[in-house]
Amino acid sequence: MRESRDLYGGTLKLFLDTAHLADIETAVRWGILDGITTNPSLAAKEGLAFRDLIREITDRVSGPVSAEVVSPDADEMVRQGHDLRTIADNVVVKVPMTREGITAGARLVEAGIPINVTLVFSTAQAILAATIGATFVSPFLGRVDDIGNDGLGLLSDIVGTYAAQGYETEVLAASLRHPVHVVEAARMGADAATMPFAVMDKLFDHPLTDIGNERFNRDWEAYQAALSGRAKA
Ligand code: G3P
Repeated sequence: MRESRDLYGGTLKLFLDTAHLADIETAVRWGILDGITTNPSLAAKEGLAFRDLIREITDRVSGPVSAEVVSPDADEMVRQGHDLRTIADNVVVKVPMTREGITAGARLVEAGIPINVTLVFSTAQAILAATIGATFVSPFLGRVDDIGNDGLGLLSDIVGTYAAQGYETEVLAASLRHPVHVVEAARMGADAATMPFAVMDKLFDHPLTDIGNERFNRDWEAYQAALSGRAKA
């Protein structure tokens, strides 16, 4: 977790939505990474056993690392959740927004284990996540947009509803597709935004920054060359 976080309480936390270790290392190096979210689809791309993969990630990231349980059955999800928490103290157990997932989530919270309720597509579902005391709720903005609905509208409604109720569950904007999703999540007061590496990478870019930087470098080199020419004369 960035130490500057303490100086700016309430600011948007930036998470990577990936299990790809090289990308995680790059974002750690940039100094902007607050945490990681993974899901079974992302883990499947990496060719490592799941526990080993989560251990590798928690070795690199001190902020929350969401690792998802996969079962149709609450008892089995609870068992997997307890097991995942033995990997590292910063593991957050991700449970799906299903009846069994919420049942398992409530029991994990009761046992003192932080959870992230995932696959959230409505404010009603977000209310259930807050009701069981989830640490995070993950509305999937991009997938809402994909079916022609308003992902940012959903985020705004959840943030407003949580504020009205004083819920402490953090709103983690997920399934983000582009920098505008991140900017709007910040503007609306989301607590965290999780994004693919490509989206985080794009947050840096502006053509005028590149043009300005090239010009500064060019002028600096000319300036140094002129000084060394004068010294020799
Ligand atoms: O990890 C959950 C979520 O962010 C998935 O995003 O891009 O697969 O819709 P996406």
